[in-house]
Amino acid sequence: MKKNVMLAGIRATGKLHIGNYLGALKQFVELGNDPKNECYFFVADLHALTTPFEPDQLRHDTLEVVAEYIAAGLDPKKSALFLQNHVSEHAELAWIFNCITPLGELERMTQYKDKSKQHKDNINAGLLTYPTLMAADILMYKPNGVPVGDDQVQHIELARIVARKFNNKFGQTFPEPKPYERKPLRIMSLKDPSKKMSKTGDDALWISDSPEEISRKLKKAVTATDGSGSDGVENLLLLLRHFGTKPQIQYFEDGLKQDTIKYSELKETLAKEIADYFADFRERKRELMSDKNKLASILADGAGRAKQTAQETLLEVKKKIGLL
Ligand code: TYM
Repeated sequence: MKKNVMLAGIRATGKLHIGNYLGALKQFVELGNDPKNECYFFVADLHALTTPFEPDQLRHDTLEVVAEYIAAGLDPKKSALFLQNHVSEHAELAWIFNCITPLGELERMTQYKDKSKQHKDNINAGLLTYPTLMAADILMYKPNGVPVGDDQVQHIELARIVARKFNNKFGQTFPEPKPYERKPLRIMSLKDPSKKMSKTGDDALWISDSPEEISRKLKKAVTATDGSGSDGVENLLLLLRHFGTKPQIQYFEDGLKQDTIKYSELKETLAKEIADYFADFRERKRELMSDKNKLASILADGAGRAKQTAQETLLEVKKKIGLL
């Protein structure tokens, strides 16, 4: 029976926050454990080069993401787990896509505009062509679904445009990819709930945070409603729906409706549930980070498996476009 192909990555920019977990990693684990799926999950280390980086930090951050994937329950025997740079076909296909993607499509991307504002002194070409590399990551494996959070949907749309352009010019090759979830998630910042939680903010709730840190950060979370839909309480309830028990969810949702909700109680409950949920994760991550050789051998195995598919696709593409 033909399996459903699932693929996604996370940038190698260090430890993951609760948004990365709920928007992406949790689904990687679930999809990878389902025998109906053939999964490819990678760490996007080439994409990490588009924003300022230091070599030692990059090395560390990359392994940290790998360890967090596995500690969260991703089984590298079931899913191909690899580094983007180890399957060099991604970069080759990205170059080909660069040559069929109109500049205008790249210039209008929200992430490009945001990052060029954030890093005014480092608006490099990689930042602009980030989406064509991502289109290559995706289309290489012809996936049935791409598990991502809401902020990556525009990039998947760009990959659809690239697929369509390629297919129109060179014949049907790539199915148009789509996000795995119909409504991808967006977890908001704890300090400013009008913004999404991000790795660069100082308020991110890391999934490796100690129970004390989780409690401290949640205590400071903004709960005021400013009327613009940027509602901190809604964000906390969204987290509770993922980590709390049914009676807890019911209790606080009723409390909100009846205006009897106590924010401090909601924050304490949430802090305890999140800390408990990730207790095993924290332990496993510590063990994995202390055995770098094991991580390296897992990555070598994953790259070998991904390469088989990647080489097939790249050969098909090269033939179709006339490269000898
Ligand atoms: P990155 O590293 O920014 O984020 C990794 C994943 O986490 C999701 N995410 C969130 N989900 C919900 N709420 C949030 N606040 C939140 N913040 C981040 C992201 O949507 C993403 O799913 N370009 C990608 C990496 C990538 C990729 C790919 C993904 C490279 N090639 C191919 C899928 C397929 C990125 O920057 O993710």
